[in-house]
Amino acid sequence: MSTGQLRDSHGRVMRDLRISITDRCNFRCLYCLPETEEAANFYRSRFDAVRNPRPFSLQPIQYDWKPRDRLLTYEEIERMVRISVSLGVDKIRITGGEPLLRKGVPELIGRVSAIPGVRDLAMTTNGFLFARHATALRAAGLQRISFSMDSLDPVNFKKMTGREGQAEVVAAIALARELGFKPVKVNAVVIRGLNDHELEALAEFARERELTLRFIEFMPLDSGHAWQRDLVVSGREILERLLARFDLTPIDPSGNPAETARRHAFADGRGELGIIAPVTEPFCGHCNRLRLTADGRIRTCLFSLQEHDLMPLLRGDATDAEIAARLVSIVQGKEAGHRIGQADFVQPARTMSCIGG
Ligand code: 5AD
Ligand code: SF4
Repeated sequence: MSTGQLRDSHGRVMRDLRISITDRCNFRCLYCLPETEEAANFYRSRFDAVRNPRPFSLQPIQYDWKPRDRLLTYEEIERMVRISVSLGVDKIRITGGEPLLRKGVPELIGRVSAIPGVRDLAMTTNGFLFARHATALRAAGLQRISFSMDSLDPVNFKKMTGREGQAEVVAAIALARELGFKPVKVNAVVIRGLNDHELEALAEFARERELTLRFIEFMPLDSGHAWQRDLVVSGREILERLLARFDLTPIDPSGNPAETARRHAFADGRGELGIIAPVTEPFCGHCNRLRLTADGRIRTCLFSLQEHDLMPLLRGDATDAEIAARLVSIVQGKEAGHRIGQADFVQPARTMSCIGG
């Protein structure tokens, strides 16, 4: 039952709400929360002193993790979903940080999946803690799951995530398939000189295990502010590499205009590959996504420099209608798109671990 729409000033209608339920993470991915000496060494070794007037530095992680009482409760999240759904949102993704670090996630999934109008409910996780919650998540109504796994080589996995754990993640992916999550997605961020030699092996893994693999261009959302353009392997280059090795058939995107991935099926019918190229081929023009941070702020773009704090409304005596009206007005100000690569680009202060992918 839609009481209105979340339409922005560029004519885009929001249907997809991504909710970060914690800003904490048990991994330290080099493209998100680089912490290890190995990560620093990688960035240092790739630092382009010619293009950068300043000496190399990797900014330390700002550990300003929010205390529990500053996080949205499950009741508050449920309320936000209900209000968003009344405004036309029908797709919900639970993210983090690492969402499974929060207690009782199946309970939250149960509450959200019971809301009429939630057509699609998914979660993004690094997979490390998945096995112990998998059955309860499935039973609670979680339909789809995306894992982050950038490397099939345990040594490189550790370099990329800062943690041992590749075996756990591979096991989690297998378990998700057994439990009937459909599709089981795997996200791999591709970084030149780090895991780009694994493209074909990752694709083969997807084909063998009937997974939906998404290769993602590295975006400037890392806490270290060490992102550089030449660490990005472009979507075009990724596709050329994959086409040279596999027989791929493009999947017609017309069914979902807000799709971010350029999708390809293996000609022998198992698994699927997709390329998400936000840096070199921005898809902002048909973006239908909104983000809610764990501490109750709306972000209208991954790269927003401004957030809209809903806590005063949620913890004050605002009615659902008042919160809905605020959402409508926030969405009107959604930025046209990101400005990566432009002279005036400013990286947002918060990293992916706070924003939620
Ligand atoms: N660039 C691209 N993707 C990123 N992710 C996290 N940080 C970045 C980044 N800087 C991805 C993770 C995860 C998803 C939530 O976002 O791999 O799968
Ligand atoms: Fe890695 Fe995701 Fe954790 Fe960031 S939030 S460190 S991308 S697992």
